[in-house]
Amino acid sequence: MDDYRLLIDLHKQGYRQGPGGDAESEKALNLTMTDRAAPLKVADIGCGTGASALLLARLLNARITAVDFFQDFLDVLNQRAESAGVADRISTLACSMDNLPFTNQELDVIWSEGAIYNIGFEKGVAEWRRFLKSGGLLVASEITWLTDTRPAELQKHWDSEYPEIDVASAKIRIIEKHGYSPIGYFVLPEHCWLDEYYRPMQARFENFLNRNGNSEEAREIVAAEQREIDLYETYKAYISYGVYVARKTG
Ligand SMILES: C[S@@+](CC[C@H](N)C(=O)[O-])C[C@H]1O[C@@H](n2cnc3c(N)ncnc32)[C@H](O)[C@@H]1O
Repeated sequence: MDDYRLLIDLHKQGYRQGPGGDAESEKALNLTMTDRAAPLKVADIGCGTGASALLLARLLNARITAVDFFQDFLDVLNQRAESAGVADRISTLACSMDNLPFTNQELDVIWSEGAIYNIGFEKGVAEWRRFLKSGGLLVASEITWLTDTRPAELQKHWDSEYPEIDVASAKIRIIEKHGYSPIGYFVLPEHCWLDEYYRPMQARFENFLNRNGNSEEAREIVAAEQREIDLYETYKAYISYGVYVARKTG
C-alpha cells in the first residue's frame, strides 16, 4: 500500500498518467464520426486525473462517468472539472474496471486511454461490450508492437511485464472476435510519450524525492520510472500505444 501512496503522490500532479495527447484524443473522436451535439452517455475507464474526460466534456454534449481505482486521482479530476466549467458533465466513480456497475446497453461510448491493460485488452474488450448500446463505440489505447520482430531485450522485458502485448493486426482481430467492427487505428507519436508524459514526470522527480524524505522506496520508484523512460527512448521504433476505434455490432 505504501508503494501505491508513493505512486499516487508522483502521478497525481501530472496532467496525464500515461502517454497521450489532446490532439490525438480528438483524432480518435473524429474517427468515430460522432455527432458532437447528440446527447451521449460516456464512460472513461481508468481515467486518472482526467485528461481525456475533460477533453470529451469540452467537445461533446455528453454525460461522462470517469472511473478510476484511486480516489486521489478522481479528487484532482473533480477540481479540474470545476476549474474548466464542465463539472456538471462529469461524475466520478471509484471502482475497479473489472467490476463496473453499468447496466447492459447503457453507454454510447466507452473510452479508455492507457488503462485497459490493467485487466488485459481481450478481457476488457469482451467484458465491457455488454455495457454498450447496439452501434456504440469503443475507443481504447493499448501498448502495441510496431514491427513484426524486435530486439531480444525489449521482447524479454514486455514478455514479463505484459505478455498480451502484440501487433496491431492481432489486437484488431481480438476486437472483431468479440463483436465489434473496427473503424480505425493509429499510433501515438513520440511527443505523446516524451512531451506529454515523461518529461513532465521527470520534472517532478526532485520535489517528489524531497517531499518523501529521499526514502529508499521513493528513490526506487524514480529509478523504475527512469528505466522505463530509457527503454522507451532506446526502442521507440518498435513500440508505442495503438489507438483502436471500433463500433459494437449487433
Ligand atoms: C496509465 S494510467 C492512464 C490514466 C489516464 N487514462 C490517462 O491517459 O492519463 C492508468 C490508470 O488506470 C487506473 N487503474 C489501474 N487499475 C485499475 C483498475 N483495476 N480499475 C480502474 N482503474 C484502474 C490507474 O489508477 C490509472 O489512473
